[in-house]
Parts: sequence; structure tokens; C-alpha cells
Amino acid sequence: MLNKSRKKLAVLISGRGSNMEAILEATKQPEYPAEIAVVISDNAEAKGLETAKVENIAALAFPRPDYSSKRDHEDAIIAAIYEADADFIILAGYMRILTSDFVEAFDGKLINIHPSLLPEFKGLDTHERAISEGATEHGCTVHFVNAEMDGGKIISQMALQILPEDDAKTLAARVLKLEHKLYPAVVSLLASQDIKLDNGELCVSDAVTLKSDKTVLIET
Ligand code: GRF
Repeated sequence: MLNKSRKKLAVLISGRGSNMEAILEATKQPEYPAEIAVVISDNAEAKGLETAKVENIAALAFPRPDYSSKRDHEDAIIAAIYEADADFIILAGYMRILTSDFVEAFDGKLINIHPSLLPEFKGLDTHERAISEGATEHGCTVHFVNAEMDGGKIISQMALQILPEDDAKTLAARVLKLEHKLYPAVVSLLASQDIKLDNGELCVSDAVTLKSDKTVLIET
């Protein structure tokens, strides 16, 4: 039974779904201001769909080959988001690039998590690239989504030092732990309307502390 006073989330995944799971765990706290109304995947085999089903959350698959065009595919997903009456759309490892029509339909309501300190290392293989390019710091970013891939307004980041012994796997695992702290915290602030996007700018309430780079401080 969905609680009416909490905001509803549509979480879009393509695979493992560990960030979705971290948000799901957070929603179990009674004071958390949001709950997951639906989990949507472009991959019927996504592990995260099973996780959602076990928790009695609507879990829907929209395999791309079932649709004749990208537009038809996105339209079906948009219809499911409306059907779920979602307030916010949370991209959590959703591996398709969204059209500008999709992004504009949910302006200010659509966020993504990316495993790098944006604007560094947009796109794939971020951990490998951070190591091979000799970066000393790495981390994750939650941002509003716009039509430019990994290019929307940054909300918050968590960083760590790359260790001499790190390889892409160990680094990915350490960054993922940060992701699981960062994403539920940012979703909470979004749902409680302590942060919002206003004319492309990040606006925050008095409850939110900004860092010197004007991104949101999340206490670890
Ligand atoms: C995460 O690293 C996320 O930052 C990126 O895709 C990965 C998804 O992992 N966008 P999971 O499916 O949440 O476990």
C-alpha cells in the first residue's frame, strides 16, 4: 500500500540494481519522504526486477526489441511512469541514452547517478579510465538529467582517493559503496523539496549545506 504523503519514485534500471536496492532500503525508514512506486527496466533479465518483485513493488520490463522504434519504446516507458503517478524518475544504471523529448517531459524530476566526479569521465568505463589517466581522486555524482549525456546540473558528489594498489574492480567496488550512501540521501532531499531545479539552476532550502563548489554536502 503506497503512503499518500510520500513522493512516488519510478526507478529505471538495466541490470544489477544495487542503487535501486539502496534506495529501497532507505524507503523502509518511516521518516523517509519517498517510496518506490515502480521499477522499470529495458532488460527483462535485470536482477533488480527480481529484487523489486520480492518486495512487492511493481516491476516492469520493456525490452527494446519489442518496439519498432526508440520513440515507441520511450513512449511505453513514459506511459508506465504516468500510470504509476511517479513524482520523480530515478535513473539507476539505466543504460540507454534518453531522447530530448523524454528528458524535457520530466524536467527537474529526472536524476541520474554516474560513477565519476563529473565533468570528469563522462560515459562508460570510468574506473578504468580514471586509473589509466593517473587520476588521484575519483567518486560518484548525482545530477539532474538534461539532453547532454552526463551533462545535467550537478547536485552532489562523493569522492575518494585512488590507492596505488587499486585496479578497476577494487575502485568500482569502493565507489559503489559511496553511491549507495549518496543516492538515497539525494533522493530524500529531492522528495522533501529541499532541493530543486529552477531555470537550470540548483536551488536549495535552508536545511541544505552547500560546499564551496555549490554542490550539496551529504554527511557520510
Ligand atoms: C552504477 O555504478 C551507476 O553509477 C551507473 O551504473 C551502475 C549501476 O549499478 N550509472 P547498479 O545496477 O545500481 O548496481
